[in-house]
Amino acid sequence: MIKKFLDLGLQPLANSYIKEKDLNKRESKFRLEVMFNSKNYLVSINKKIATNKMFNSDYPYRSSQSNTMKNSFKKIAEEIKKRFKPEFIIEIGSNDGAFLFNFRRQKILGIEPCKNIAKITTKKKYKTIDEYWTKKLAKKITKKNKADLIYSANTLSHIKNLEETFGAINLALSKRGVLVMEGPSLLPCVKNNSYDQFYCEHVYVFSTISLINILKKYGLEIFDIKNLKTHGGSSRYFIKKISNIEIKKKKIVFQEIKKEKKYGLNRFKTFKNFAKRVNKSKKDLITILKKLKKNKKKVIGYGATAKSCTVLNFCKINSNQIDYFIDTTPDKVNKFLPGSKIFIKKYKKLQKNQVDVVFLGAWNFKDEIFKKEKLFRKKGGKFLTHVPKVRLI
Ligand code: TMP
Repeated sequence: MIKKFLDLGLQPLANSYIKEKDLNKRESKFRLEVMFNSKNYLVSINKKIATNKMFNSDYPYRSSQSNTMKNSFKKIAEEIKKRFKPEFIIEIGSNDGAFLFNFRRQKILGIEPCKNIAKITTKKKYKTIDEYWTKKLAKKITKKNKADLIYSANTLSHIKNLEETFGAINLALSKRGVLVMEGPSLLPCVKNNSYDQFYCEHVYVFSTISLINILKKYGLEIFDIKNLKTHGGSSRYFIKKISNIEIKKKKIVFQEIKKEKKYGLNRFKTFKNFAKRVNKSKKDLITILKKLKKNKKKVIGYGATAKSCTVLNFCKINSNQIDYFIDTTPDKVNKFLPGSKIFIKKYKKLQKNQVDVVFLGAWNFKDEIFKKEKLFRKKGGKFLTHVPKVRLI
């Protein structure tokens, strides 16, 4: 049975940054609710937005905007080369090439439906197909040669049709092929109250126990897992065909299942309690912002993330509380955040004499950002975060 546990209110499309000329146009909004399936333990958002409304030629997100992600991709690319020695790799959701560029051109094929972004890798002579990942596409590109490795980071949970996603992977993978997929993981999300992992693009936030149930249907199974710090706590799953009995399951798979069940990711009550903590987080954030305003503090935001969109709209925060955001992404700069309509300025190093408090929209890059803004913090500048608890740091 599928039951709702969290209502995040009316939300716009998280990556639909607004141009100044469109500020008065009506934004389309939807009610963002989060559900738990007690049969397969899958957590998903209720409303599935049409893919082409989100992933199109205006898509602003660039993986290479953070060194943390670039380094993470470099590391896994090296591991893949050594551990699996693949001859033909497919990357689903290749974005601006942060993973792709670590391989020789003839070994790897990128799939990137956002045409503006696919152009970036094509220009560098990396073969990139600007289409959505489907069974039809998988058949077409692997007619002669199946992939011995498929990699996908922060993408598969964006595709609502599980049959297309994993059915296509099963079709494209060779008998001994391996799928390496990663993305935000449900356990750290629930533990850290990071409810902003839920937005229109994040149709699912997978746990190990839910993914096992889904993969089984498509003849696939997890044989190894690595927990990562990226994106506020991700899991990297190593997956093979069930029919391939040469690769043995690592102990960590059983340990992760045990850990998730012990925490209660298989029980509705766990999610009801999470929802209570989320509503408390909202109250606390509103209170602290009110106090800062009363004390005439200058508050800005750092990292106009899709996650921020959930927080700002759920907590009904706008430019009365947060003056503006700063961000390094060219396609976000000089636009306004959806819903809250807070302006986004081009990134400039923080100066204590200009700003008192900085709301950490990109809390998942806290370490990288704190390193960059060492001086601001040294001079008494504060960051405001809501993860895992609302507080000034
Ligand atoms: P994400 O959390 O969805 O990956 O988005 C991170 C956003 O934060 C992206 O728009 C780039 C921005 N950002 C900065 O502006 N400065 C930084 O130092 C980092 C790491 C990210």
